[in-house]
Amino acid sequence: MMRARIPLLLLLGILFLASLSVSFGIREQHESQDVSVSRGKNNPFYFNSDRWFRTLFRNQFGHLRVLQRFDQRSNQLQNLENYRVVEFESKPNTLLLPHHADADFLLVVLNGRAVLTLVNPDGRDSYILEQGHAQKIPAGTIFFLVNPDDNENLRIIKLAVPVNNPHRFQDFFLSSTEAQQSYLQGFSKNILEASFDSDIKEINRVLFGEEGQQQKGEESQQEGVIVELKREQIRELTKHAKSSSKKSLSSEDEPFNLRNQKPVYSNRFGRLHEITPEKNPQLRDLDVFLSYVDIKEGGLLIPSYNSKATVILVVNEGEANIELVGLKQQQQQQQQSWEVQRYSAELSEDDVFVIPAAYPVAINATSNLNFLAFGINAKNNQRNFLAGEKDNVISEIPNQVLEVAFPGSGEKVVKLINKQSLSYFVDAQSQQKEKQSKGRKDPLSSILDTLH
Ligand SMILES: *[C@@H]1O[C@H](CO)[C@@H](O)[C@H](O)[C@H]1NC(C)=O
Repeated sequence: MMRARIPLLLLLGILFLASLSVSFGIREQHESQDVSVSRGKNNPFYFNSDRWFRTLFRNQFGHLRVLQRFDQRSNQLQNLENYRVVEFESKPNTLLLPHHADADFLLVVLNGRAVLTLVNPDGRDSYILEQGHAQKIPAGTIFFLVNPDDNENLRIIKLAVPVNNPHRFQDFFLSSTEAQQSYLQGFSKNILEASFDSDIKEINRVLFGEEGQQQKGEESQQEGVIVELKREQIRELTKHAKSSSKKSLSSEDEPFNLRNQKPVYSNRFGRLHEITPEKNPQLRDLDVFLSYVDIKEGGLLIPSYNSKATVILVVNEGEANIELVGLKQQQQQQQQSWEVQRYSAELSEDDVFVIPAAYPVAINATSNLNFLAFGINAKNNQRNFLAGEKDNVISEIPNQVLEVAFPGSGEKVVKLINKQSLSYFVDAQSQQKEKQSKGRKDPLSSILDTLH
């Protein structure tokens, strides 16, 4: 109410001077107290896709790759020991052969379409998955994946949570290919003959193709675990597949689409879709949240941190600069001290970046950007923003405390914290634009200039 009585010009003048002194203050501090910066190879949270994925399988129809162990990269990521990231890509009209693994998988479609079939002792379920669809594949479930599309590649990211071993899991393929032996072949002749009530020659010929190989008949072995399918075969396999229903968000076993929900944050610079364990039983099981984020070129996801979830971010499309802030221990005589450290990286497609819990992060989209994030340890996680109008934790600190904590006067601190009128996503260039226009001496800044 008081403010209304202050003449507008004077108010503007004060605001301008305040912003001037604050921005100088910050810059000086940045220059005098150098923040150490880790980028590229020295940044343990950044996994460049060219360097850190190991190929498990590759042929002309697609590939399967697994990301290096998180805990081996850095001891700051010890608690991700039991999580692995797998990427699968396949060409149109192909099949990834039936197999199971000693890991729970959380599968998300990043591009293209898939028909996923899960096989259980009492039946099977086939689902049509599209971009943004997610589905848990429980450990030990036999599954196979068809890319039914005639043109588009299918790209899938799986979060793997091994059950026998921390950090290691294996794929058990049912049939033999040149790349991989059928696990059934591990059994002795006597066990196989008795179990199938058949002669071993017949078993070998029909299941393992050992004799057929020479004849190159129908019985010859497949070249690899990703194979080509005929149109009729695809039509047949797709016929009984279900599209996911609207209700499937809360389903125990049906796939759900991250993009079907209203975004939790959205404005002209970006939007964030998120499904938490509270909303979906499959995610509750794994204690993981999933976010699917689009940021427009020139948009900035303002600094925020997750209260307890560690986030594994996978870039689907586009490029961004990311800044993560953490503390690094410094060895000084007798004393332990912690130094603020900036971990930055230039992200591009397929790159992975880990955001530890409590570490603030900001993402600057340098092109239109789309990424997927797995939040590990997600139950009751909260995202705390450090700027912006909504969900800003700093603005919840009482003025009296802000005044003591920061060098500026209480009023100035509050003004600065409340200045940003947008929330979550903002213009990454706004200050540069403002400075440019000030350089050009627009009428307002000329008036203000005469004030001091
Ligand atoms: C975002 O990146 C662009 C391009 O590199 C740069 O011009 C801009 O200053 C950055 N913005 C922020 C807020 O870092």
